[in-house]
Amino acid sequence: MAASVASVLPSAAIAYGHYLSFMVCFGALVLERRLIRADPNRADATLMVITDVVYGIAALGLLLSGIGRVLHFGQGSAFYTENPLFWWKVGVYLAVGGLSLYPTITYILWAIPLRKGELPKVSEALAQRLRWILNIELVGFATIPLMATLMARGVGLPG
Ligand code: HEM
Repeated sequence: MAASVASVLPSAAIAYGHYLSFMVCFGALVLERRLIRADPNRADATLMVITDVVYGIAALGLLLSGIGRVLHFGQGSAFYTENPLFWWKVGVYLAVGGLSLYPTITYILWAIPLRKGELPKVSEALAQRLRWILNIELVGFATIPLMATLMARGVGLPG
């Protein structure tokens, strides 16, 4: 019994890492969505930058744990790669990741005035644009677990 528990621990740990990364990503996006506004104060702007770094690390963890599950800790790589739902899942992840480049570059640029003790200049139009991007990212992230749960049960596999 003990041996069988030990044998599933690595896959359980990777699965947990996948869920934890997902939760952190989603939480970070919700916080960014809540914080974004024109001409933020120093505390909010700093928190945005930190939150985005945490989001980036968690997104990387999500990708690495996902790759780990495909290659070693899942139901065999063919089970996933032969399923179009898997590729939709990867595609939505990449689309959300690509979309987050714009906010990320924006926040990285904020770090420059913040380090000089100045505040970043954020117009209402920029804040509104970032709000929309974050909305789309949140919807994208919310659809991925649906694809994942169906994919994990073999829905979408040909024949
Ligand atoms: C390119 C990135 C990703 C890859 C390669 C990947 C891969 C995988 C794999 C192989 C599984 C195991 C399925 C099984 O149990 O047989 C899985 C499960 C899961 N993934 Fe991902 N994943 C990725 C991104 C994401 C993202 C971004 C989310 C959430 C937004 C997510 C949420 C889930 C969930 C909820 C499950 C559990 C499904 C279930 O057991 O019912 N994954 N993923």
